This record gives sequence, structure tokens and C-alpha cells, in this order.
Amino acid sequence: MNARSIRSIHARRVWDSRGRPTVEAELILDDGAVGRAITPAGASKGTREAFELRDATARFGGLDVMQAVANVNGEIARALVGSSADDQTALDERLIALDGTLAKTRLGANATLAVSMAASHAVAASLGVPLYQYLGGPDATLLPMPQIQIFGGGAHAGRRVDIQDFMIVCPGAHNFGQALEWTAEVYRSAGVLMQERGSRFGVADEGGWWPDFTTNEQALETLVTAIESAGFVPGEQVAIALDVAASEFGRHGRYTLGLESRELDSDGLIELLLRWIDRYPIASIEDPLAEDDLEGFARFTQAAGHRLQIVGDDFLVSHAPLIRQAAAMGAANTVLLKPNQRGTLTETLQAWQVAQSLGYAAIVSARSGETEDTTIVHLAIGWQTGQLKVGSFARGERMAKWNEALRIEERLGPRARFAGAGVFGRNPVKARGSRA
Ligand code: PGA
Ligand code: ZN
Repeated sequence: MNARSIRSIHARRVWDSRGRPTVEAELILDDGAVGRAITPAGASKGTREAFELRDATARFGGLDVMQAVANVNGEIARALVGSSADDQTALDERLIALDGTLAKTRLGANATLAVSMAASHAVAASLGVPLYQYLGGPDATLLPMPQIQIFGGGAHAGRRVDIQDFMIVCPGAHNFGQALEWTAEVYRSAGVLMQERGSRFGVADEGGWWPDFTTNEQALETLVTAIESAGFVPGEQVAIALDVAASEFGRHGRYTLGLESRELDSDGLIELLLRWIDRYPIASIEDPLAEDDLEGFARFTQAAGHRLQIVGDDFLVSHAPLIRQAAAMGAANTVLLKPNQRGTLTETLQAWQVAQSLGYAAIVSARSGETEDTTIVHLAIGWQTGQLKVGSFARGERMAKWNEALRIEERLGPRARFAGAGVFGRNPVKARGSRA
């Protein structure tokens, strides 16, 4: 019998960072190795994401996951126990076939993903290597550029501002640890600025400061001031990354900026964003247009894709066919990878492989509803994507990821490489962003 055949699979209901139920799976191999993983949950989701199964009961506001848990303990366990976990692709294909639907509406992507990730952890444990090394082999030495939220917004902050994430990246940092140090300084100085203006009202869902601003642009201004007052050169050492999450306030080519009581069409929103790119040191913009606005996406990419990273999240939902479609239109140049948008590691990896073959970059990303699970850190390093987005620099479920990456950096020692400014290579941030 194969040493790495599955002895047992068990799921339980645990709780995420918003106090909502989610699925944890534990998988034990015949040699005794254990793998455990927890599925995260989004709040501003793309409509084409794989299906998250929530119970049709009133419990916890209709968010309970006992059916998904039962699906793991019943059908999935019956189908997989006794089979080998060695081949992740084969295991994930069994999960996909067992579910039998396109979007995993039957078993739930929250059920299948917990099992998929737990299996990878169990095999890594059985081999006695860290997960990133099991996934990427000896070449998995590239620490990602972190994208870290300073102000929250959008669906993560009661729509207090329209833009969802005001983040920073550190193209001037020499290693991952230093990027975190710089982020800590900027996060702190942003907090001091908010305190000084009497606007420090706690944090949003992902740990960014609560966005008490009168315009979206005021958040950008404050962010640049925070970078400067922390002692960094905006655009050179530390640059801005935005997640507009435009699907949250726009569809059919109409966009409503609630904070500013403004309605824009696609071209109006594109113009606004181009103005921001001219005015602020922005290195990356995610979902600048809504998921149904493929043409707007393509026009924006044509106008700005040579200058910055344009990321598809709700737009591409880690889905290989959508990435192909976007590439055919020249829409976006980077894909956000969220495993629970698909429900297995294999499908998420396929999205990255297709993206790479089409010249797209990738960012592995957390969800706004997270836990102590650190699997995504190992995916970013194991798959060598070069970028990682986890939310802010506060709250345990976020810090668990940053701290895990620090451990890996230390473990790699002199072999550790850092993605650095190279990830924005096509479009140097440096030359831009003077606030004249
Ligand atoms: P979500 O947000 O996890 O709530 O979908 C994260 C993002 O949009 O990147
Ligand atoms: Zn997003």
C-alpha cells in the first residue's frame, strides 16, 4: 500500500476573522502525517467565483456551513479515503468529478478547497518538508513583494469610501523583512495622521485604518503624506497600490461614487483613474472597472498598462478561461489568485500557468474573511508568483501570514531572493507620481 494513502478526512466548523462560520478540514495519511487547512471567505466577491455553500437556515444570518462540513465528512471522505494524496492534480480532479458541477454548487467550493489544501499539507508533512518546498521544489526561494493595506474601504468599511483598498508596496526594499519594516512605519504614521485629525476610529475588516475621508482622493493624499512622514520617498521606496473593486459600485458601464455623489460612465472612471495615476505614485490598480466591463478594462489597459500593473480580481476570479478571454482583448496584465474562487489548488495553479503563458503577472491573495491559516504564503513562494496580498498590518489573521513569510525567509537564509521592484519591471514606478 502507498505510504501516502489517505487514512481519514475530517471536517469541522470553525470561525473566521469576522466571527462567521467556515470549514476546516483535517486529513491524515496512513503514515500518520496530518494536514489541516481552513477555507477563507470574501465579502466583495466576483459573480463568477466558485460557489460557497452556506446553509439554508437562519442560523448566523444564513451563513452556517454545516452542510459543507457534512459533505466533507460524508461524500468526500468516502470517495477519497484509501486513495493516494501524492498526486495533488489527481486528488483535485477527483474532487471536481465528485462534485460534478461547473462552479462546485453541489458540494461547495468551501468544502472542496479545505480538503485540497489539507491534502497538500499532509503530503508535505509526510515528506518532512515545508509546504512551499513541496509545491515548488528547491527553486522555491522567491519571497513575494507584499501589497499591504493602510486604509480599508468599500465593502470592508461600510462603504465609507468607494475605493476598497488603499495599499502600499515597497519597490525600494531590499528584502521581504525590510518591506515589512517599512510598511510598519507607514502604517504607524498613517495612524498618527488619523489621530491628529481626530479620525482614528479603529480599523476596517482587513485591519486598515477606518477611512474617515470626505473624498476618495483625500485618502490618496493622506497616504502619500504618511509615506513621506515615515521618511520614505513616495514612488521610489514606497508606492501606492489600489483595489478599486469597481464591481461593487458599477455595472452595465455605469459607476456610482457614493461618497462624492457622482455618477460616471466607463470612460469617466478611466479618466478619473488616469488623473490619479498622473498625480500619485501608483504602481498597481486592481479591478479598476467592473467585472462585466471587459471593454472598459481593455481601454484602461491600453491607456495605462505600460505604466502600471492592472490586476483582475472579480474580473478574472482565478479562472483560466476568463484569463484567456481577457488576454485576447488586451485587458489587464496581472491576475489575482484566490484559491477559494475556484475550490481546488490545482485549478488555481492552472490559472497561474495560463496567466504566465500569456505574459500576465500574478498576486496570491487572502480574502477579507480570514483565519490563522497560512497556506497562501506557501502558495506564493512555492508557485513563485512574486507578489502576495493579505490585507493590512494589523489583526492576527493578517499578521499570521506576514510572520509565516518571515519564518520562511529566515529558513531560506542566503538562498532567499526578493521579488523587489522587478515585479513592476515593465513600468518603473520611479519616474512618476510627483504631486505638482
Ligand atoms: P474580498 O475582498 O475577500 O472581500 O472579496 C478582497 C479583494 O477584493 O481583493
Ligand atoms: Zn479585489
